[in-house]
Parts: sequence; structure tokens; C-alpha cells
Amino acid sequence: MIHSYHDGTKHHFDRFARSLGYLDWASQPDPFRHFNGAPECPLFPRPGAFHSVIGDILRHALGLSAWKELRGSRWSLRVNPSSGNLHPTEAYVVCGPTPGISTAAGVYHYAADRHALEQRCAFDPDEWQRIVGLESAQWFVVLTSIHWREAWKYGERAFRYCQHDLGHAVAAVAIAAALASQRASIVPDWPHEQIAALAGIDRDQDYVDAEHEEVGCVLSVVRSHESFDAGPMAMIDRDALVDAVRGGTWAGRASQLSEDHIQWTFIDDIARATQDPGRALSTTPRGQFRSQNNCSVQLPDHPITRLPDRPLLLQRRSAVALDGRSAIDADRFFALLASVLPADRPPWDALWWDPRIHLALFVHRVDGVDPGLYLLVRNPRAVDALRAAIGRDFSWQPVSDGLPLFRLAPGDCRRLAERVSCDQEIAADGFFSLGMLAEFDASLQQFGPSFYRQLFWESGVVGQRLYLAAEAAGTRGTGIGCYYDDPVHQVLGLTGHSFQSLYHFTIGVPVEDTRLTTEPGYAWERAGHDGGACGHASPRPRNAAAER
Ligand SMILES: Cc1cc2nc3c(=O)[nH]c(=O)nc-3n(C[C@H](O)[C@H](O)[C@H](O)COP(=O)(O)O)c2cc1C
Repeated sequence: MIHSYHDGTKHHFDRFARSLGYLDWASQPDPFRHFNGAPECPLFPRPGAFHSVIGDILRHALGLSAWKELRGSRWSLRVNPSSGNLHPTEAYVVCGPTPGISTAAGVYHYAADRHALEQRCAFDPDEWQRIVGLESAQWFVVLTSIHWREAWKYGERAFRYCQHDLGHAVAAVAIAAALASQRASIVPDWPHEQIAALAGIDRDQDYVDAEHEEVGCVLSVVRSHESFDAGPMAMIDRDALVDAVRGGTWAGRASQLSEDHIQWTFIDDIARATQDPGRALSTTPRGQFRSQNNCSVQLPDHPITRLPDRPLLLQRRSAVALDGRSAIDADRFFALLASVLPADRPPWDALWWDPRIHLALFVHRVDGVDPGLYLLVRNPRAVDALRAAIGRDFSWQPVSDGLPLFRLAPGDCRRLAERVSCDQEIAADGFFSLGMLAEFDASLQQFGPSFYRQLFWESGVVGQRLYLAAEAAGTRGTGIGCYYDDPVHQVLGLTGHSFQSLYHFTIGVPVEDTRLTTEPGYAWERAGHDGGACGHASPRPRNAAAER
């Protein structure tokens, strides 16, 4: 099934993956879900007070980064990017009694439009204390995907984009958590159906006429100094927590996002085939990954590789066009690449598996580095497999002492990069663009079919890191989900499914669209606004998903 969906949703030079082929504006999905009848708790900081930890992390991971306006049409952007700005990812918080939120334990939906929590479930705080403990201050973030939001535009390929976006969101949460001295990591042992119960997305009675939400993952958030591997999350009695939540008092009905829908059954099929039964923490290769990592490269201390600060997170944007002229110096180029090398720090410590994604780079404009085709191998374990799979006679010349970077072949590959990235000029007009090569069959064999999703998540995490590194370098990146799959493989002489390109990316100097006006994400962040008070929520913005 995985091969059949993956191959069946490839773009070819003469044929795109199946979609409607045009945009049905009447059924454009609302980018914001809300739960009618659920009590609301605003998270925005009160005058003179700081954000709560939960509010701080959500604001800087999944909140609104800006409102844009062009000729009377207005749309929002978020801290996390999304294919087509359609934002299929929804977030839920599961936490114990928390000052400023509730004296009960609860399950909450994050309403990014208002930066508020909608209380879906209140349950007994003593139960929470018994199951999770109060000392650890642990809480959970559940991420889900509404496939319909992406399928509305992209048809069958949309499942892939939902997974990319989920990976971006995982990285965004991990990085925002680190800035709040917390550590967020995906919990591997929760099976899909228990995550669905935890977030309440399996409550069909609350989703009458509302689009289904698909389980993504659950992240545990603990204070940074609490250990992960032997930490409190490993000891949580999942069944007891799910029972406590199920026995709580539920409120709210999910809003409908579109009146009309098209059923893309291929998406339902692949979602079913990749459901995660969960896996014991002890079977994950995390420890192994750490020790491997210890003997790999030492990251340079460079502004580009450091943890970004909050203003940088809000500043992140996708470039719509790149200038096709500017070059970057080798020092910053190497730092951009170093930023995606896994290390025991965010966002990489959010993932429980060792790296499976490697970068095939089309280098166009880097001072001191020849234009050409390069390969960054993010896991030393994969070098031999890549050498065996790449069927062309390349030179495999190491480029820099500090980086697992190889020059495969010199040459001007601007047109090639543009052509394979669905003829998008941004792939040729930057310093470099790249394809993310996933160790495909071997990973699926090792971890089972559900790992198809995780491969995309990892590519999304790499993408998020690149976006932020590009901003830190004073430049700009763009994720590229539209590329011709097999022609990319042909560039490298890859056949079969040992490696598959899952996501593209480009970085350069942006050309701004000066016609657009920009406002901050929330009213209280505008100059002269006196902040808000608890119990008052800003009006719901109207539906205006920007299109690209
Ligand atoms: C998975 C993914 C795929 C994307 N694919 C493309 C693409 O093929 N071409 C493009 O111009 N932008 C692409 N983008 C950029 C989005 O259009 C952009 O993230 C969205 O409009 C929101 O804008 P922002 O990133 O500035 O917040 C992609 C983004 C993501 C996350």
C-alpha cells in the first residue's frame, strides 16, 4: 500500500498527481476550527504580566505571525508554515491544574486565531496527580491533521503535505519549548487510537457534519532539566489517563470547515495503512543515535546554528521570489548546512529515531564553492547505502573538514533544479536548492508502515530548521512540496525505492511584494494597544486562506 500510494501520488513531467485541477472557492475550508459551546480561556498576556509557559510556547510555535492584506483581501500567516497556507494541523493541550487556565485537569483545543484555549474536557485533578504527578509539571501536546484542508487544493497528494506540515509543527513546538526552558519530544509508545481518545477526536457525537481529524502524534513537554529517556513520560499509565479523560466532562462541537467535500479515498486508504500501533520506548534507536552522534561532527558556534530567539520565530516567512543574483559566502553556507545536522538539542531531540533524511543539493551561488551537485549525509550510517544506490559515476569528493558534505559533480544546475521543482523559479534563483532523500524501504522495513509518516515529519523538521537558519543568516527560505519525483531520482541514478525524495527547499535573497501590507498576528501586539483581559476574546477573523 505504501508504494502504491507513494508512486500513485508522484508528479510526472506529463501528469500531476490526481486532484480536482481547479480551485472550488465555494468550498474553501476555514483555516480555523473552533468548538462551539466550549468554555474559552484567552492565553494572551495581561497588561504587565508575562505569558504562561503554555501560552508562550503555543504563541511562538503555532500562533499567528502576521496578517497580510492585498486589495481588500486579508489573510493570516503563522509561526509554522504550511503547504498552500492551508494549515491542516490542529493542536490540543492536555494538562493538570494550571494557574490562569483551570483548577481542573483538562483537554483543550488551541484556537490560533484568538490565541486561546477552548476547554474540551475537564477532569479530576486528583486523577491527574495520581497518573502524571504534580511535581514534574509535565503536559502534553497532541497534533492532528485535517486532511480535507489540503485535499481541497491538492487532491490525493495532500496526505504527504499534511505530514510535512506536522513535522514543521513538531519542530516549531520543540524550539518554542526550549526557549521556555522546556523539552518537547514525540512519545513513541502511544497507539493512534489512544491518542485519538486523549484529544477527544474520536468523539463522533462532537463532530457531526465536521471534518474528521486524523491523529498525528503526542508530544510530552517537561522542564528541560528533567531527563527524557528514564523520565516521567515513560512511566505514565496510558490506559489510566485515557480512562480519566473519557470519564471527564466534555463540552463543544467541532465547527464545519466547508459545506461541500470531495472524498479522496486514496487518502483514507493510506491513513489507515499507516496507523501507528505504538512502540515500546526501549525498542527505539535513540540511545544508539546519541552515541553515533557523539562521534560525528562538532557544530560550529555560529549565529546561524544557535537556537533562534522569539522575534526570529515570528519573523520567519517563505520567500515568494528570489533575486537570481546574490551569492552567499562559504562560511554562512556551511553554517546553514550544519544547522540541519542532528544533535542532542532541539528540534532533533523531539524525534525518537535516528536521521533518515539526506540532502541532495543544487549549489548555484556560493562564493568559494563550485556550482554543482552535492550530497549532505546526515547520518554516517547511510554513506554506504547511498553510494550503493546512487547509480551514477560521481566523484564523491569531500568538501569541508567539518561537514559530511560530498561534491558529486560540478556544473551549472540552475535549469535542472528549476525543472525538477515543478518549474518553480525559486529553485534556481537562490544560493542553492535541494531535495530531501529519505532512506525509504529500509526504514519502513525496520519500523513498519506507520513510519511512512515519520519520514515526512523528519523532512518537515529539517525544513523548519532551514527556514529559521535562513532567517538567522539574513536571507530567506521556502519549502517546496511540488517537485517531479522520479526525474529527481534520475538525476542521481536512483532506481527502486531504497531512497525517495520527499521534500524540496530553497534559500536565497527574497524579492518582496511591496503591494502587501502587514500587521502583527494579534491586536494586543499592535502599537498603542493596551493588551486584553481574561474572559474577553478578540473577534474571530474571517476565513481568508492565502493561496500560492
Ligand atoms: C510542505 C510545504 C510545501 C510547500 N510547497 C511550496 C511550493 O511548492 N512552492 C512555493 O512557492 N511555496 C511552497 N510552500 C510555502 C507555503 O506556500 C508557505 O509556507 C505558506 O504560504 C505560508 O507562508 P509562510 O511560510 O510565509 O508563513 C510550502 C510550504 C510547506 C510547509
